Amino acid sequence: MMNNKISIVVKEGIEGLPECLAGWREVYVVFDRNVSEVVEDIVSHCREVKGSLEIVATEEEKRIETVMGIVRWLMDKGASRKALVLAVGGGITTDMAGFAACIYKRGVAYANVPTTLLAQVDAAIGGKTGVNVDDYKNMVGVIRQPAFTYICADVLRTLPRRDFLSGAAELVKTFILEDGAPHYEDAVALLASLRDGTPLGAVMTELARLVEAAAGVKAGVVSRDEFETGERKKLNLGHTFAHALEHEARRTGTDLTHGEAVAVGMILAAELSERVGVAPEGLAERLRRDFVAAGLLVESPFPVSVLRDAMTKDKKAEGDIVHFVLMRGIGDVVFVDIDPLKI
Ligand code: GLY
Repeated sequence: MMNNKISIVVKEGIEGLPECLAGWREVYVVFDRNVSEVVEDIVSHCREVKGSLEIVATEEEKRIETVMGIVRWLMDKGASRKALVLAVGGGITTDMAGFAACIYKRGVAYANVPTTLLAQVDAAIGGKTGVNVDDYKNMVGVIRQPAFTYICADVLRTLPRRDFLSGAAELVKTFILEDGAPHYEDAVALLASLRDGTPLGAVMTELARLVEAAAGVKAGVVSRDEFETGERKKLNLGHTFAHALEHEARRTGTDLTHGEAVAVGMILAAELSERVGVAPEGLAERLRRDFVAAGLLVESPFPVSVLRDAMTKDKKAEGDIVHFVLMRGIGDVVFVDIDPLKI
């Protein structure tokens, strides 16, 4: 799939990667230690690989120091301006390896092999790279498109269930913000069947189809608004509440994944959409029913009153107003400015 500057290759397995790397003479792999088996496979199949560097891809390690470690490793290896940095892992890996590539020698190319569902449908597409600064997420970074993103559903077989569901929330989100009912309903049905005990291997082809559709939606949005001056903001559906939930989770030491926060955030956004008259009555109830069937989190671990304060501090807030992405229906969203104190 080629969408303007965005190139996405979707395959069942890793075997199509050598073809994508064929034009590159120097490939440097930066990978999350959790996916070393995938990397062994890549290294044994791609003779262009000049070296591989394992990193610890956690939110705590997502810092400029880790990126400088990648830069120094590239220097030690003698990587030239024609190098390609290949990031293999989840969104933290692709963010950091991509950022290192963007600043090394004023910018060399990078490409992504996302190995989590969340990265396949969101983080590894769209060119956002960067690191956290202190407690502030993604405070430093650049937007620059990868040479390609190579998605293979097969690597998801070994993904822990909770991580899978975290990505599933972003998959469902994508179909709520665009593409609409058929894909949304198919995604809910697939997740519900997994919840009922169907093994992932039995639904791999369907999963790959949905991942490709979601990646295509995201590529379309980004190609129309690469630097998030308008339409790209709709990818933040559910995220205004989610960031507040994650902030509160960090403050209280509550275990909450990003996808769990996004799933709850979408339910809260649907309720708000009804309350301000944007959505017809019943939308929030429908989402709640579907999310429960799909195994996604629906209940906020914190009262909404606690989230208000955090929301006003959200980076999207200007004065007393917060920019929400609300829903008119499945596949149809709208931007609405609201004073959170009125929620
Ligand atoms: N994850 C939202 C974006 O890429 O814009």
